[in-house]
Formats: sequence, structure tokens, C-alpha cells
Amino acid sequence: MNDEHRTVLILNGPNLNRLGTREPDIYGHDSLDDIMAKNIVVGSTLGFDVVTRQSNSESDLVTWIHEATDANWPIIINPAAFTHYSYALRDALAAHPGPVIEVHLSNPAAREEFRAHSVVSAVVSGTIAGFGHDSYRLALQALSTLLSPPT
Ligand code: DQA
Repeated sequence: MNDEHRTVLILNGPNLNRLGTREPDIYGHDSLDDIMAKNIVVGSTLGFDVVTRQSNSESDLVTWIHEATDANWPIIINPAAFTHYSYALRDALAAHPGPVIEVHLSNPAAREEFRAHSVVSAVVSGTIAGFGHDSYRLALQALSTLLSPPT
């Protein structure tokens, strides 16, 4: 192991820029900026340079996945509503060399029926859902474990 930090991209999909005011009973009171700031610090303790991006546009998210693919950056992604229907995101993630971790603040499986299916789950390394903003921290820890050389 060297001391160089590895870059990790955290992507957030539509409406997540509204965290803090958006349905706080489901998504909590923290803003996305606050959650991302905490995870930049957490990432740093794990040896990651965390880059964060959010967009309401599928096109932006696909472009950022392509950039991470070319740079070989691991991805943590909360695709938000795109989780349930974006084959464009799924195809982009399927072409990423991995690891990719899907995260959700809520537990979509315990909510409305349309949320029970993720079209991206089949092409990611794993999914963490239902732990509020802690889902991102758990994803960084899972990534750290995935990237550690076997003992
Ligand atoms: C979400 C769950 C999705 O079903 C929803 O569309 C979101 C947020 C979550 O983090 O719990 O926007 O991805």
C-alpha cells in the first residue's frame, strides 16, 4: 500500500439537492451539502479523495459515470428516482470496471411498490439502503474493504 489517496466519485440523482426540506420524515433534516461534507472527511480517513456531484439530469449522471470509468474511479451512487427506470444509467454503470455501490437513504423495498425494483442493482457490487445519511458512510467503508488486498 502507498500513501496516495484514491479518488472516489459520489453521485447523487434527482431531487437529492432538496434534502433537508424534502420529505424530512423520510429523508431526514440534513442537507446534501452537509452529508457530502461529512463523507469527504470520512473518505479521507479511509484514504479516499471524495469527489461529489449531484444532478437532476440523467445526461449529466451518465457523463460523470463515463468520466469515472475512463479514470478508473470507484463510484458510490444514489440514483434517486432513476433507480427504478433508467436503463441509460444501468448501461453506463454496467460498463464501469467497478467497484460501484448503490446507496439509498430510505429503504425503497419498504415503501411504494414502484420503488421495490432497482434497474441498477444487477450491475453494481452491492447496495446499502435504509440507514439515512449513514448509508453513504457505510458505502465508503464497504468500498474500503472491497479495495483492500486480501489478508
Ligand atoms: C432514494 C429512494 C428513491 O426511491 C427515491 O426516488 C429518491 C431517494 C433514497 O435515497 O432513499 O429520490 O434513492
